[in-house]
Amino acid sequence: MRYVRMPIEIEAPEELGYDNLECNLTESSMPDFHFRDLGLHLDDLVLSYVDHRGHAGLRNLIASETSGIIPANHVLITSGAAQALFIVSTSILSKGDGLLVVRPNYATNIETPRAIGADIRFLDLTFEEGYRLDPDRLRAAILPSTRLVSITVPHNPTGVCSRPEEIREIVRITAEAGCFLLVDETYRDMNRTGVLPDAATLGDHVISVSSFSKTYGLPGIRVGWLTTRNSSLFETFFAAKEQIQICGSALDEEIAFQFYSNKNRYLPRILGDLDRRFQILKRWMESQEHLEWVEPTGGCVAFPRFRDSVWKTLDVDRFYETLNRKFKTYVGPGHWFEQERRHMRIGYGWPEDRELLLGLERISQAVREIHV
Ligand SMILES: Cc1ncc(COP(=O)(O)O)c(C=O)c1O
Repeated sequence: MRYVRMPIEIEAPEELGYDNLECNLTESSMPDFHFRDLGLHLDDLVLSYVDHRGHAGLRNLIASETSGIIPANHVLITSGAAQALFIVSTSILSKGDGLLVVRPNYATNIETPRAIGADIRFLDLTFEEGYRLDPDRLRAAILPSTRLVSITVPHNPTGVCSRPEEIREIVRITAEAGCFLLVDETYRDMNRTGVLPDAATLGDHVISVSSFSKTYGLPGIRVGWLTTRNSSLFETFFAAKEQIQICGSALDEEIAFQFYSNKNRYLPRILGDLDRRFQILKRWMESQEHLEWVEPTGGCVAFPRFRDSVWKTLDVDRFYETLNRKFKTYVGPGHWFEQERRHMRIGYGWPEDRELLLGLERISQAVREIHV
C-alpha cells in the first residue's frame, strides 16, 4: 500500500483549527451532538474488549431495518464508514484488480484503491447530465476484468440521488457482470425523494456501508457499519476488522446503541432542520448571477459552480483566498473531489441558520470583490 494524504483531509477545518473559521460551510454532516444532550446511561459500562462484530443490540437495531433480509450477524460495526470502506477495498482488491468507481466521489473511495494499486476506471458524472448515474453508461463501462463497482448514493459531493429503480438496475447489471457492488449509503436517511432500499438486501454481491457521522451528527464516536448477505465475504471483512483493531470501542458503541434506540426522538428534528436550511440555500442560489447548480435531492451538501461566462476570467485562487482569509468562510473547493476549482461543495446542514446565511452572503461578497 502506498498511502498519500488527501487534500480533503489536509485542508479539513479540524486541521486548520475551528477557531480560524467564522462560517464553516465545509461539513458534510448535520450538527454535532453534545454529550450532555443525549441523556446517556454509562456508569455501569464495563470498559472491556467487546463483541468483535460490534455491539449486539446495535447490530440488531440495524438488522431490524432490513425487513429481516440481513441478519444481525451480517452487520459489522466499524470505526466510521471510513473504516468500512477501507476494509471493503483492501479485502476485495489487490494490485492490478479492476475497479469501476464513480467520480466525483468521497475521496477515500478513490484513494484507498489507488494506494492498493488497483486498476481504476472512472465513471465520470457530469454537470450537464445533472450528475445522474446512468445504469446504461455503467453497464458499458464494466470490463470483463472489473472486480468491484463502487457508487455513493445519495451522492457526495453533489447531493444527487439515484431513484430506487435505478439502484435495482445497477444491482442487476453488476450481478450479470459477476462483480461486487459497493454502495456507500452514508447519506441514505437524508433523501428528499423517498426512502432508498438498503442495497445489500438486493443481492449477494452487494455491500452497503453507512455511518452515525452524517445524519446523526455523531462523527466523534467513530461508529459506522457495513452489511452484506454474502457469508464468505462477511467472514473476510470480519477478519480484516479483527486484524485492524480486534473489536470496536466499548464506549463509542454503547453511545451509538443508546442513541439509535431513541432514533425516532431525534430524526424528525434533524430532518426539519435540514429541510429549512436547504430552503435557505435554494433561495440564495436563485439570487446568484454567477453561480449555477444541479439542485440536490438528498444528503446535506450541494456542488454549485461558476458559470462559463465568469469562469473564463475569474481568478479562482483569489476567490478562495478572499473567502478564507478576509471573510473567514470555508467551502470545499472542487480539487477536494478531483474536479475543477470552479466547483465548490457547500455543506448546508451543519451550520446554524444564522451562520449559513452569513456564510452564503460572504460567498456573494467574495465573488463581487474579485469579479469587477
Ligand atoms: C460518502 C462518504 N462516505 C464515508 C464517509 C466517512 O464517514 P465516517 O465519519 O463515518 O467515517 C464520508 C465522510 O465525509 C462520506 O462523505
